[in-house]
Amino acid sequence: MSHISHLTSHISEKNEVTVHPPATVANVVCGFDILGFALESPSDKMLLRKAKGKGVKIINKDNYNLPADPEKNVIGKALLALLDAVDENIGFEVESTKLIKPGSGIGSSAASASGAVVGANYLLDNRFTNEQLVEFAMCGEEVASGSKHADNIAPCIYGGFTLIRSLHPLDIVTIPSPELYATVLHPQIEVKTSDSRSILKQQVRLKDAITQWGNVAGLVAGFMKSDYNLISRSLVDVIVEPVRSILIPGFDEIKKKSMDAGALGGGISGAGPSMFMLSKDEATAKAVEQAMKEVYKKTGIDFHTHVSPISSKGVKIAT
Ligand code: HSE
Repeated sequence: MSHISHLTSHISEKNEVTVHPPATVANVVCGFDILGFALESPSDKMLLRKAKGKGVKIINKDNYNLPADPEKNVIGKALLALLDAVDENIGFEVESTKLIKPGSGIGSSAASASGAVVGANYLLDNRFTNEQLVEFAMCGEEVASGSKHADNIAPCIYGGFTLIRSLHPLDIVTIPSPELYATVLHPQIEVKTSDSRSILKQQVRLKDAITQWGNVAGLVAGFMKSDYNLISRSLVDVIVEPVRSILIPGFDEIKKKSMDAGALGGGISGAGPSMFMLSKDEATAKAVEQAMKEVYKKTGIDFHTHVSPISSKGVKIAT
């Protein structure tokens, strides 16, 4: 009897779950499409329930007017990809509350896709590996950005800094790092990832490629050796930033004033319009926030800022 009641409570416990997928910063300056890290906050809130019959029902509990049709929705597409790999006749109902603004450049769509698949996997007794979850979530990310990339999804699921060493086949490497804080400036302008990708040059000069891979290797080594000076020297992008930064008003001044305030370095967060700066400690990250605010107040553009430690955890499960 006690065994049965234990089993019953186990099943009911696994019928619904609330998850909190975090915001993420992709590219990390020199690592276009291959590096990313997770923030502690902000994060979305998502409640998933098991439902009978294959399919996904999405209830949007915010004011962003995201499509409820699962075929057109990041959450829907990610869960449909996961359900394709499930034999049982089950589906999911999802209540999504987005606290990471869509189009902000801090991995809003990746949070939706990653939260959905991590929550679903929890309800399915964690039968899928993190790597498989990244594959499913990428199907969702594709709906939002028009391309399958994993540099937001991987840190959202694994936490910390991640490297996509290869996308096909998928090879994700987690990178240890010392204590770091991110300051994020989010100008309230829209930059579509697809537009921000379409302006990039398809060829790079060998000289620039050499500088870039020197910086990527230096940055990874800096994280692993907890060498803040090396991290700072390596946060340089000679390929993507010079092209994309023209989309972000005040970019150069933000960067200069943030460095003056003690930041180690930073640049565009993902495809923009957000910018981020990394600092050694919270006090510096807050001083950087102040410097960013002073610059941005002059532009007349509305903006939000966030200060957050780098999170070693990915999607949090509230049981
Ligand atoms: N690596 C991608 C890009 C991230 O920069 O286009 C987009 O979120």
